[in-house]
Amino acid sequence: MLRLDKFEKYKLTFGPTPIEFLPRMTQALGGGIEIWAKRDDCNSGLAMGGNKLRKLEYIVPDAIASNADTLVSIGGVQSNHTRMVAATAAKLGMKCVVVQESWVPHEDAVYDRVGNILLTRLMGADSRIVPDGFDIGIRRSWEDAIQSVKDAGGKPYGIPAGASVHKYGGLGYVGFAEEVRAQEAELGFRFDYIIVCVVTGSTQAGMIVGFAADGRGERVIGIDASGTPAATRAQVRQIADHTAELVELGRPVREEEIVILEDYAYPAYGVPSAETNEAIRFAARTEAMITDPVYEGKSMQGMIDLVKRGFFPAGSRVLYAHLGGAPALNGYSYTYRNG
Ligand SMILES: Cc1ncc(COP(=O)(O)O)c(C=O)c1O
Repeated sequence: MLRLDKFEKYKLTFGPTPIEFLPRMTQALGGGIEIWAKRDDCNSGLAMGGNKLRKLEYIVPDAIASNADTLVSIGGVQSNHTRMVAATAAKLGMKCVVVQESWVPHEDAVYDRVGNILLTRLMGADSRIVPDGFDIGIRRSWEDAIQSVKDAGGKPYGIPAGASVHKYGGLGYVGFAEEVRAQEAELGFRFDYIIVCVVTGSTQAGMIVGFAADGRGERVIGIDASGTPAATRAQVRQIADHTAELVELGRPVREEEIVILEDYAYPAYGVPSAETNEAIRFAARTEAMITDPVYEGKSMQGMIDLVKRGFFPAGSRVLYAHLGGAPALNGYSYTYRNG
């Protein structure tokens, strides 16, 4: 038994997210592999929700205990994470500063005015766009923002990119695995594979630890969307090790349990390939399931390709973890102007 219960949780989500069968997608992919989705994109009423809220549920008690008055975080211009931190701050009655780095070499007339950043600003966050490029590590611009809150007499609480390299960043997705196990008991079967998009790492790292408890660590298939897979892999390794200790997995996470496929992140983080766009249209047209060009479109592309290449044995049940991210589509209005 994993010891997740010893950590305090502040409820930001509705509760367990639905698992649904995707019959039209399953048929369109040949019918030999069952495709299911776990809808973490529908997990909350807070500003359209998404994966970061599961992580933040375990981070907020620490922020409250620190007596902070301002959450400070970082991401790209169209960051889902900074939207979720802004939402959490609004919900808690805290102030919020978010640094939005220029992570994506994408030009659209409305890119810095719609979608995630619009919602972030609407919720009252102080959103600061800076020119620095993509990097999932600890950033100078974030440390400067934390200092700026102190200089103004405030009490900051820092949350790193993707809430990943925070001491409790991996706990939320250990909870995801526990939740899936409970849902599997009701469904009467177990999923053979879990597909997850990976960038800053704590979503997959938490899942690996959670599913390692029943021997399925290596069945969590990470689809890299960072385009810097060595850094992402190192971060997953570090978070998985730390999280395994926190929840008392009782053994180290093995190297083979960290499965990250690097083939779908091209041409760059935040830039969809023609195949990503096909995958986005396919999910939208078969199941009205909306995925985005930065994250879920790439994991959808990866899952479709793996089915077509025979990666999954016949009869497998595959669970696609839908982690959210649809608001970013607005920043790509020109790309999808004709659907
Ligand atoms: C919608 C969406 N999917 C996937 C991810 C990847 O999760 P992680 O950063 O924990 O690897 C993120 C955040 O980076 C995200 O916003």
